[in-house]
Amino acid sequence: MPLFNSIDRYGAMARTLHWATALLVGAAWLLGQIGEDIGGHGPRAAGLIAHVMVGLAVLVTLTLRVGWRLIDTPPPAEATPLGSLADRAAGLVHYLLLFLLLAAPLAGVAYQFARGEPLYLFGFAEIASPLTLSRDVARGIKELHEAFANALLVLALLHALAALGHHWILRDRVLKRMWPFSD
Ligand code: HEM
Ligand code: HEM
Repeated sequence: MPLFNSIDRYGAMARTLHWATALLVGAAWLLGQIGEDIGGHGPRAAGLIAHVMVGLAVLVTLTLRVGWRLIDTPPPAEATPLGSLADRAAGLVHYLLLFLLLAAPLAGVAYQFARGEPLYLFGFAEIASPLTLSRDVARGIKELHEAFANALLVLALLHALAALGHHWILRDRVLKRMWPFSD
């Protein structure tokens, strides 16, 4: 499979970054739910540190992905019976997903700082919290992080359902041209 996108399908790099993001977001969300239940309790629980690592990896893949998009233009929308309104809706969902891929982890970082904890950088270093905020503000930021994370998950599920609908009901190439193992 060619590295770059072509007129009718995504290339290897865009597909790798897309599916790596999907796996990381799923893992981050699950670890967010169970973070403090595995590996002890409190801000240094192993599960929570794992959550932060995976969450930061989402930011790294997002940066690579947006950078790659700038040099490798995505293919034009696949012609489907749904028409241009559906293409525009799909495009809007993609931009919303990209926004949430940034907003959810950033709010996570803000919450970690807001509660006075350092940001662990993949075991190599830590950035001490530059903030001193009240408990109420920290709780508000936590709720924002949770809301962004849940919105990301729900929108990604709807996006996945739409892709499966294209594949199984409309039987077009929309999913195939992003699927890791197809031409
Ligand atoms: C796409 C990436 C991320 C997703 C989907 C995600 C998702 C979640 C979820 C679902 C929760 C549970 C909220 C609750 O019910 O209490 C959570 C908690 C949390 N997240 Fe994230 N998160 C992400 C990235 C990050 C990042 C980068 C950090 C960086 C520091 C972070 C820090 C935290 C913290 C500190 C908690 C609170 C854990 C606790 O005390 O219960 N998250 N996250
Ligand atoms: C957290 C999970 C996911 C996120 C954040 C996400 C995000 C995105 C984004 C931003 C795009 C636009 C193209 C690009 O920038 O690379 C895209 C395209 C696509 N995604 Fe996802 N996605 C996720 C999961 C899934 C899943 C589970 C499926 C399939 C079951 C899927 C199927 C597709 C398809 C088929 C395209 C190409 C659509 C087109 O050609 O217009 N995605 N995705």
